[in-house]
Amino acid sequence: MKKKVLAAIMATAMLALTACGGAAAPAADAGASGGDSGAAAASGSGKKVAVAMPTQSSERWMHDGANMKAQLEELGYTVDLQYAEDDVQAQVSQIENMIAAGANCLVIAAIDSDALVNVEQQAKDAGIPVIAYDRLLMNTDAVSYYATFDNKGVGTKIGQYIVEHCGATKDDPKTIELFMGSPDDNNAHMLYAGLMEQIQPLLDDGSLVCKSGQISFEDNNTLRWDQQTAMKRCEDILTRYYADEDLDICACAYDGLSYGCMSALEGAGYTDANWPMITGQDAELMATKHIISGKQTMSIYKDTRLLASKCVTMVQAVLEGAKPEINDTEQYNNGKIVVPSYLCEPVAVDKDNYKEVIVGGGYYTEEQLAE
Ligand code: BGC
Repeated sequence: MKKKVLAAIMATAMLALTACGGAAAPAADAGASGGDSGAAAASGSGKKVAVAMPTQSSERWMHDGANMKAQLEELGYTVDLQYAEDDVQAQVSQIENMIAAGANCLVIAAIDSDALVNVEQQAKDAGIPVIAYDRLLMNTDAVSYYATFDNKGVGTKIGQYIVEHCGATKDDPKTIELFMGSPDDNNAHMLYAGLMEQIQPLLDDGSLVCKSGQISFEDNNTLRWDQQTAMKRCEDILTRYYADEDLDICACAYDGLSYGCMSALEGAGYTDANWPMITGQDAELMATKHIISGKQTMSIYKDTRLLASKCVTMVQAVLEGAKPEINDTEQYNNGKIVVPSYLCEPVAVDKDNYKEVIVGGGYYTEEQLAE
């Protein structure tokens, strides 16, 4: 299974290169957890770009790392790609080591960005530019650019999907529970804001009912976006609030949280007859298979090849003086500065459009989805 996922990720990374006009694709080492690639500079400067990623436990970050490495190496950069397995201190140490090892540029997808303020300052003092990847680096002026998806837009799209497809009315209300992301990740707050904007009117008029009352982000967040945590919370909610009535909607902020809810629902005896609507994010291979089988209703597809390519333009900007693509200079205030950003567009996918969007977009093949 792991081999297959890796093969899929490699294939995506190769596609990314083709999409970016790359010639011979270097093998992307998605599993690298440390150390230099050792790749010689093909044509570019040979400068060292260090990429700090949060975890290999979630498929999307494997794609991100593989895409970044492949696209940077294609341009002749040497890449030091490291994953910290959601261990905050491990990520701090990795970044310290990257600085000590003479990185020319740091690309960081933070676990807990508040914990990185000091190392970011160290990078700044050493003249090393820092780029925030997918997750905003908070409370620092050491960050030059931010490449991400429209994070509020992710929540908006999940919310719109629920409103348009769940069939809730005042006469036929539906029950809903929210499983949101990690409180130390700015993206989770933005997603929640986008989602609430859409569903609040239905909660207000009684079309949607949250029986646990856990509507505030303080009550429904999931530290480190952890699947087990979501499963336990869902189990608890089902036992305490849904003994006499079914839960109709699990509004999950990420596919991993959806899997956690699915286990809890199965454990509580839910079947096809009363299976709820379940949302997600990332369109992981497993989630897309679940969408096809009907176990998960929708997800948010984020083309990590595109994100990597936008981030690479930022690396080139800080290292070679090129002009990066920026399309947002307002939304991402990190508490110290407004970080110039490029927002890629997230796309809602369900059983009706996954073929066109995901297969058509070359992200997964029909064969991968059929395995
Ligand atoms: C990312 C999501 C991802 C989540 C959990 C967020 O910061 O934007 O795409 O699902 O982290 O890894």
